[in-house]
Amino acid sequence: MAGGDAVFGARGAHADDFLGAEIGADEGQAADPGGQRAAGLKEVFAGFHVALQGKTDAQHKHEIQQHDDPVDKGQVRMAQGRALQMLGEPTPKFTLLSGLATRPVLRENISRLSAGRVFAEVLLAVEKLTWAGLKWTQNATAPVEPGKLEGMIPTLEWTPDGVRFLDQTKLPLEETFVVATTYQQVADVIVTMVVRGAPAIGVSAAMGVALGARQTEAETTEEFAPEFERICDLLAGTRPTAVNLFWAIDRMKALFAKLRTEGAALAQVKQAFVDEALSMYDEDIAACKIMGAYGADLMPNEGGVLTHCNAGALATCGYGTALGVIRGAVERGKRIHVFADETRPFLQGARLTAWELMADGIPTTVLCDNMAASLMRQGLIQAVVVGADRIAANGDVANKIGTYAVAILAREHGIPFYVAAPWSTIDRATATGEQIPIEERPAREVTHHGGKQLTPYGVGICNPAFDVTPAKYVTGIITERGVLRAPYAESLSAMELVVS
Ligand code: MRU
Repeated sequence: MAGGDAVFGARGAHADDFLGAEIGADEGQAADPGGQRAAGLKEVFAGFHVALQGKTDAQHKHEIQQHDDPVDKGQVRMAQGRALQMLGEPTPKFTLLSGLATRPVLRENISRLSAGRVFAEVLLAVEKLTWAGLKWTQNATAPVEPGKLEGMIPTLEWTPDGVRFLDQTKLPLEETFVVATTYQQVADVIVTMVVRGAPAIGVSAAMGVALGARQTEAETTEEFAPEFERICDLLAGTRPTAVNLFWAIDRMKALFAKLRTEGAALAQVKQAFVDEALSMYDEDIAACKIMGAYGADLMPNEGGVLTHCNAGALATCGYGTALGVIRGAVERGKRIHVFADETRPFLQGARLTAWELMADGIPTTVLCDNMAASLMRQGLIQAVVVGADRIAANGDVANKIGTYAVAILAREHGIPFYVAAPWSTIDRATATGEQIPIEERPAREVTHHGGKQLTPYGVGICNPAFDVTPAKYVTGIITERGVLRAPYAESLSAMELVVS
């Protein structure tokens, strides 16, 4: 790359200019394509430093330490880990990105968004610079302008009236919304899969807790405490496999415990719950975008990518995990054709993945679940990427029923099998996939379709919603902290250390 300063000189030196910048192919071609990615990034970061702050690392560190908000601190750690990985730095001396993530100037320019989201935007902008530089070495033309794949379907949203959900049971034929005004209604929409997908379930539950606090007739925090437990228990009982649900509820519990210790008034508790749920929402989108950036490298420059179920914007607060990786690849100019397993019995692939990818103009073909082997044999699939509901400490992955079969097929055909999931899906307290609870869904999902009975009366039915793919079939796990490789027990521990 020609140099960070040169890039910034062309772009202007202000954070808001930079965030708003679209990096065009021409600028990329003017850059030195021989430069290595890490070296290029180093220069870009140096450019940031000079152009935006002119401060020393020590000053940045000091600035970061001023942030009391644990979410900000968490994001700062994430930023440090990411920067270190990209730069291959052996010591945690690189704090520039962290400083950027929490700088008030950036926060002002992107109102309401958490530091994590701001960080993701900065990171993506940085990566776009690098991608632009690399573009012509990849010899790919971009069918989609960088940054154009928003993937921002309004899956769930906190509103003054309650939590608004896009009703996924009705898609793709009807785009209707339901508004949950009570935590009991939130529990209901999770059970009935109006909202589904592990990260979306987690954030929904957090918003449910916030609604529960809003509903209470208690007058003090202490009076509210037993009710808080009941709210958490009801929400935790909705779906057993997606660990993000428990992760989100535990986070609300930790917040409540802290507020109680501090003697916070109930009004403060109510507001803090809303703020926490909104932070989770923003962090989820940020994590998806970062996963998209990491995972894009792993996708073929051209060819078929198979996915199972829906791990997209509809399963998260936006952009998606597995579909975020596909979006990231397409945004970089990779010519991807998605093959979406229909995903019996709830048809998340046929109804939801197909719908949201088509909305983004990504070429998509739906296949019945039993067709994947044949397509792989014909050489139509170059990679598989799926989401996860829970990843055990040894790297075993629980995901939608049928994922295990896809993983075995991929191995047989020599096709890489990737899992994309946020860190909140990793459950290091569960040693192996054997211990992951698998949800059994109602038989009617199998016996009926569109209100019509498909099977004879009285026949035996099984309907496990998930299966476990042993770690040995997983080529890599894409997280917002980086890409994990086998042996997963070790790489998980190492990744945890890098960012904490
Ligand atoms: O039963 P669902 O539709 O909630 O199952 C969803 C999945 O299996 C997804 O792959 C998983 O939750 C990851 S979503 C980013």
